[in-house]
Amino acid sequence: MTDDLRIYIDEAMALAAEQLGKGRVADYIPALAKVEPNKLGFALALPDGTVHTSGDADEAFSIQSVSKVFTLAMALRRVGSSLWDSVGREPSGSAFNSIVQLESEHGIPRNPLINAGAIATTDRLIDGRSVDAVAEEIVDFMRTRAGDDRVAIDLDVAMSESETGARNRSLSHFMDAFGNLKHPVETVVGVYFRQCAIAMSCRQLAKAGLFLAMEGRDPLTGEQLVEPHRARRINAIMMLCGHYGNSGEFAFRVGLPGKSGVGGGILCIAPGQGSIAVWSPGLNEAGTSLAGAVALEHFAYAAGWSVF
Ligand code: DON
Repeated sequence: MTDDLRIYIDEAMALAAEQLGKGRVADYIPALAKVEPNKLGFALALPDGTVHTSGDADEAFSIQSVSKVFTLAMALRRVGSSLWDSVGREPSGSAFNSIVQLESEHGIPRNPLINAGAIATTDRLIDGRSVDAVAEEIVDFMRTRAGDDRVAIDLDVAMSESETGARNRSLSHFMDAFGNLKHPVETVVGVYFRQCAIAMSCRQLAKAGLFLAMEGRDPLTGEQLVEPHRARRINAIMMLCGHYGNSGEFAFRVGLPGKSGVGGGILCIAPGQGSIAVWSPGLNEAGTSLAGAVALEHFAYAAGWSVF
């Protein structure tokens, strides 16, 4: 089986490599625009702790919106189901940074994986603590999951996010106006910008996502991080909302829950089987890695991994 997985990864990477140069690197956060566009990495983490990698799988990149999955799990751990008073569970069908639905929907974002929803989720995770304390908790969580102390916030990216963060501040003020933030806007975006600026490699990210493939239990530490029903629900939200306006397309092509980030990373969960992280900075119009999605599509098809 392991030999087969190796073959599927190699085939998927060869097909993904044909996409290099076709996507656009995100440039609305200036620090992200500096990344070399033709990078391509793949890591598959299995429940027994083995990781199969290919390409640039050990190079750290900005995880960006992939962080939203982890802060969702952490917020559910901290405040439980009351999180759903602040954020919905419906796909948005619109851009990741869209503000339009917030007005007609009383400041409650559609789901925790769009920017507004992730900001509301982070607000609940803060729970009265300082920006530094919460940012440290998030980085610690990622380090422990990845089994690697090198996971860290890229402070240049965090600074760049804040300097160009008018849109995220607008979303936050808008939610605040509806009474849907419990902390000051600068505190909330302070944590949000830092979580997005965490730098990780495919190997680290695939290991970090493994608990979602294992009913909420981290097989590396043995800890039950979220209850099994919560892990299933996080996967359901990833499936329906993980790629904004192209979530349906991703589900159609890949058939697994996933979450993309504008740094070019995608985390994909195969329940019971493993966790996959891919990275290639060239994005499609909705902000999902072009080559990364192709790699996942071909790997999932060849391995026969699907939730359907
Ligand atoms: O808030 C932002 O716009 C970025 N820090 C994250 C956006 C993102 O990754 C959307 N994903 N495709």
